[in-house]
Amino acid sequence: MSNKLIDKSFWVIVPAAGSGKRMQISRPKQYLDLAGKYLIDRTLDQLLSHPQISNIALGLTEHDYYWRESCWYEHPNVHVFHGGDERSETVKNGLEFLAQQHQIQHEFIMVHDAARPLISHAEIDALIANDNPIGALLAIPAKDTVKQSISANESPARVLTTLDRQQIWLAQTPQKFVANDLLLALNYASTKNMTITDESSALEMMGKHPDLVVGQPSNFKVTLPFDFIMANALMQYQLSDQRNKKQTKE
Ligand code: C5P
Repeated sequence: MSNKLIDKSFWVIVPAAGSGKRMQISRPKQYLDLAGKYLIDRTLDQLLSHPQISNIALGLTEHDYYWRESCWYEHPNVHVFHGGDERSETVKNGLEFLAQQHQIQHEFIMVHDAARPLISHAEIDALIANDNPIGALLAIPAKDTVKQSISANESPARVLTTLDRQQIWLAQTPQKFVANDLLLALNYASTKNMTITDESSALEMMGKHPDLVVGQPSNFKVTLPFDFIMANALMQYQLSDQRNKKQTKE
């Protein structure tokens, strides 16, 4: 069966309404300077330069005074909506925005964290190429030995058991689902008061099994100060590599 998505173009919902408390800085982490541009601008550069990404639905807090300084501010393909208190609420608002303002309901869309600026086109291609009708997400197989603690609230934590790492994957974004399916799943999860930290978990609660598409460790989420140092170093490396390749061609 040929993959019907191979030539399609996609909307991507980008949740960017977090406060980034774990970064311990005064501004939201998406507005940190990453090699000369806002972190969020680097993420949007990567998404909007992909030939199969047509539009972005960007979830921001209501009083986001930094966004107007973005190089993507007021770009016709970037559509802003208001985020919610939790990431899953922001994504839900984004899906409602797509349905109401752009009649996007029955097609596949992607969701990608603003805080993952190092996503590559090859990873997006791999996700698009996946043809599971339920959907798919980028993820990386665990390489360390994985322990489960007895409790989430104990300090120091104590080991309950060791999980079989051959079955453990660390979820990333982008994740790709049919807009309506994801909205239904997120609504179901919120009626049950379930904590949802990615899109796939909402579908899983409905008994669905999305595909895991192997991603790259470089597509990590900038969460802690150490992640930001790593992202900056990698971004500088990629930019100088691109410059060198360009000069070699000329
Ligand atoms: O907080 P965390 O790092 O898990 O956030 C992942 C992504 O979700 C970030 O891009 C953040 O801006 C976004 N987010 C959101 N709305 C929230 C919380 C987080 O859009 N209420």
